[in-house]
Amino acid sequence: MKYGYFDDAKREYVITDPQTPWPWINYLGTEKFFGLISNTAGGYTFYRDAKFRRLTRYRYNNVPLDMGGRYFYINDEGTVWSPGWKPVKTPLDSYECRHGMSYTVLTGLKNGIEAEVLYFVPLGTNAEIHKVKITNTTKMNKHLRLFSFAEWCLWNAEDDMTNFQRNFSTGEVEIEGSVIYHKTEYKERRNHYAFYGVNAPLQGYDTDRDSFVGLSNDYSNPQVVTAGKPKNSVAHGWSPIASHFLDVDLNPGESKEFVFVLGYIENEEEKKWESKNVINKQKAKECLARFDTAEKVRKAMEDLRTYWDGLLDVISVKSGDEHLDRMVNIWNQYQCMVTFNMSRSASFFESGIGRGMGFRDSNQDLIGFVHQIPARARERIYDLAATQFEDGGAYHQFQPLTKRGNDAVGGNFNDDPLWLILSTTAYIKETGDFSLLDEQVPFDNDASRSRSHFEHLKASFYHVVNNLGPHKLPLIGRADWNDCLNLNCFSKDPNESFQTTENKRGGTAESVMIAGLFVVYGREFVTLCRQIGKTDEALEAQKHIDAMEKAVKEHGWDGEWYLRAYDYYGHKVGSKENEEGKIFIESQGWCTMAGIGLKEGMVTKSLDSVKQRLDTEHGIVLNNPAFTKYYIEYGEISTYPAGYKENAGIFCHNNPWIMIGETVRGRGDRAYEYWKKLSPSFRENISDLHKVEPYVYAQMIAGKDAFRPGEAKNSWLSGTASWMFYTITQFILGIRPSYNGLEIDPCIPADWKGYTVSRKFRGVTYVINIKNPDHVMKGIRSIRVDGALMEGNIIPLMPAGKSYNVEVVMG
Ligand code: BGC
Repeated sequence: MKYGYFDDAKREYVITDPQTPWPWINYLGTEKFFGLISNTAGGYTFYRDAKFRRLTRYRYNNVPLDMGGRYFYINDEGTVWSPGWKPVKTPLDSYECRHGMSYTVLTGLKNGIEAEVLYFVPLGTNAEIHKVKITNTTKMNKHLRLFSFAEWCLWNAEDDMTNFQRNFSTGEVEIEGSVIYHKTEYKERRNHYAFYGVNAPLQGYDTDRDSFVGLSNDYSNPQVVTAGKPKNSVAHGWSPIASHFLDVDLNPGESKEFVFVLGYIENEEEKKWESKNVINKQKAKECLARFDTAEKVRKAMEDLRTYWDGLLDVISVKSGDEHLDRMVNIWNQYQCMVTFNMSRSASFFESGIGRGMGFRDSNQDLIGFVHQIPARARERIYDLAATQFEDGGAYHQFQPLTKRGNDAVGGNFNDDPLWLILSTTAYIKETGDFSLLDEQVPFDNDASRSRSHFEHLKASFYHVVNNLGPHKLPLIGRADWNDCLNLNCFSKDPNESFQTTENKRGGTAESVMIAGLFVVYGREFVTLCRQIGKTDEALEAQKHIDAMEKAVKEHGWDGEWYLRAYDYYGHKVGSKENEEGKIFIESQGWCTMAGIGLKEGMVTKSLDSVKQRLDTEHGIVLNNPAFTKYYIEYGEISTYPAGYKENAGIFCHNNPWIMIGETVRGRGDRAYEYWKKLSPSFRENISDLHKVEPYVYAQMIAGKDAFRPGEAKNSWLSGTASWMFYTITQFILGIRPSYNGLEIDPCIPADWKGYTVSRKFRGVTYVINIKNPDHVMKGIRSIRVDGALMEGNIIPLMPAGKSYNVEVVMG
C-alpha cells in the first residue's frame, strides 16, 4: 500500500494521505539554521545544535504522536481547519504534502478555500520562511480569520523538558509591530533571541500559551481560534508562544499571500540593547526586510533550487530503472547531505538532546557527500581529527556548537581511529587536495598539541597496531562498529550504560571486524604513503597489514565464515561452536572487502554463508541465530528482543559491506539484489509494513525473528545513506574517484544491457556510457575517451572545464 508517489521531475515525494503509518518528515536548512517538518506540519527548528540552541518546542513520544509544529489555523465562519490537516484534523476536501530538496509544501482545500504553505530556509539565512497563500475558489466573498502558531523552546532542549521549577518563571517576550520576539535569558548570559514576524499588519496576537490554547484544550482546538478572537496576551513566564492574528477578506477567485519569518539573531555584547530592557532588533528587521514580499521569497526559493541543481549535478545515472535512478540522482544524495548536517542528533527517532556528532559516524557519512561539498568535507575532517588523542584514539562524539570532543557516550571504541583514514583518503581522491595532510591539527582540541594531519592518520593506523590481543587481532575496547557488542562490560545494573561501563578490567577481547577494517584502511594508508613519497612508512605499515591477514586466516576463520570476535575469556564469538550468534555480518563484510583468504576460497565461503544464513526477503540480518537470553559477557546486543536492532535486526548500515564484498568476488547479481532489498523506492509498495518514509533509508528493518519482519525504524540519520550511495556509485555502477583519475570498474547484474553515468570530477564532466553486450557481471573489454582507445581502466586527469564522452564496453 502507498500513501503518495514520487514526482521525479520536481524531485519531490508527494504524500496524498495525511494519515501515513508514522510521521513522514523532511529537513529544512542547509547551513546553520535547521528545521524538521512532518507531513502534517509537526516538528521544530534549531540553530546549529538541536540540544543547546533549540528555538521551538517539540514533545517527543507524545500522545497523540507528532503534536507541536509551525501551525496555521483558518477559521472560516466557524469551520476551523489547518492546511496540513493537523493539528485540527478537520477532514479536508483535498490534502497534499510535497517534500522536496530542503523545502516542504502543504496544501489543504476546505469548502472552496485553498491554503498552501511553503516552508524553507533561504540560503545564507538564519530563518525559516512560511509563505502562506490563501485562495478563494468559491463564487462568494469570504471573510477568514488566520492564526499562526509556534511555541518557543527555552533554548536548552533538555533543560526545557525537565527544569520546570525554573522555566515556568523565566519566559519573556516583546511585541513590536507584526513581530513577536522571544528573549528569555537574553538579559543575562545569552546574546541571542528569536523572532516570528509577518509582512502584514496584525489585527491581534498571542504570546502566552495558556491564554491562547486554554488550559483544558489542546493544539487541535485552541480557545482563541475557536472564538475567532485573539487575546493579545503577553507572556510572563509559563510557556511563551508566538501567534499572529490576521483578518483575511477574499473576493471570489482572489488569492492573498503572507510571508511569515521565524528567525534567530545574535548580537554583540555591547549592542544587545536598544534601551533599558528593550532588545536591539536591528538585525531581525534587516532579515524581515529581505523577505517582506512574496516575490522576494520566490527568488530565494529559486536560489535554493539552483543550489540543489548544482549539488545533484555532480553525479547522475540513467539506467532505465526509475527506482535506481531516483535513489542515486535524488533521494540518496539528499539524505547524505542531511546526515552530514545532523549526524545522529535530530530526527523523529533522535531527540536532538541525546547525541552530538559521532566520530565514526561522521567520518563514514563523509563518503556520501564529499563530491557535493568538498570544502565543508575538509572542514569536517579537520574538526574530527582535532578530537583525536596522541595515541590515535578519539572522543566518541563532539558537540557541533563547540566542536569539542566529550566522552558522554563513552570512549575507547577501537574501530574509531580507522574511519579517519577512510574520510581523508575519500576527500583526497575526490579533490586531489593533498595539502590537507600538511595542515596542523590539534590533538584533544588543544592547539598547543598540534601535528600535521598526516601524523593523525599515522596515529590512527598505529592505534590498532599498538592494541593487539593474544591472537594478534585488534583489541575491541568498549566496542567496535557494533556499539552493542560490549565484551568488557559485564553489567548487572539496568541503570548502567553499556557503552560507558567497564566492570572487568584488563580485558583482552578481540575483534575480527576491526582486523578486516584494518586491512582495508591500512592498505589505503599504504597507498597514500606511496602517493606522497613516504616509501619507508609504506613498507613498515605493510608488514603490519600482512601480519593481520595472517592472524585472521589463523585465528579468525571458523571453517565456513569469519569469526566475529574473541570475548573476555578468549572464547570464540560468532562460531559454529556457539549455540546462538553463530555468524555475524560485520566480519564477513570487512574480511571479504579486504579479500582475506580470497585464494583459499574463504571469501566465497563467507559470502555464501551470509546468503544461506543471514539473507531474508527484507535484507541481511546482523547475526544468526538471534540471542534469546541475556549474555552478560556480550552486553547490549543480547538485550534486544530477537530480530530487532543489533540482535538479528536488518541493521542496514552494514548490508553494503556484503554488497561490496560480492563485487570483490565479481558477483554483480547478488550485490544488486541486496541493494534493491533495502532501497526505499523499491519498498514503496509495502509502505504500510515498512512504516517509515519511502524516500530515505532507515537504520533498521526488523529481521526474520522479529514480531513484524520488514517493519523499519530510525529513518533518516543512519550510516546506511552514505554506504548505500558509495556502494551503488563506486562498486556496482563502478565509477570510482582515485588519486590519478576516474576509475571505471562496474560490477552489475548480468542481464543489464548498459547505463549512462554523468560524473563531474576535478572540474571535468565525463559522460560515461557503459555497454554490456556479452552480459557479464564484471570486467572491461575496452574504454574509449572521445573515441581514443585507452589502456587500463583509470581515465587519467584531463584539463578542467571540458566535457568528455567515455565509451565503455564490458566483457
Ligand atoms: C551508531 C553507530 C553504530 C551503530 C551500530 C548506531 O546507532 O550511531 O555508531 O556503529 O549504531 O551499533
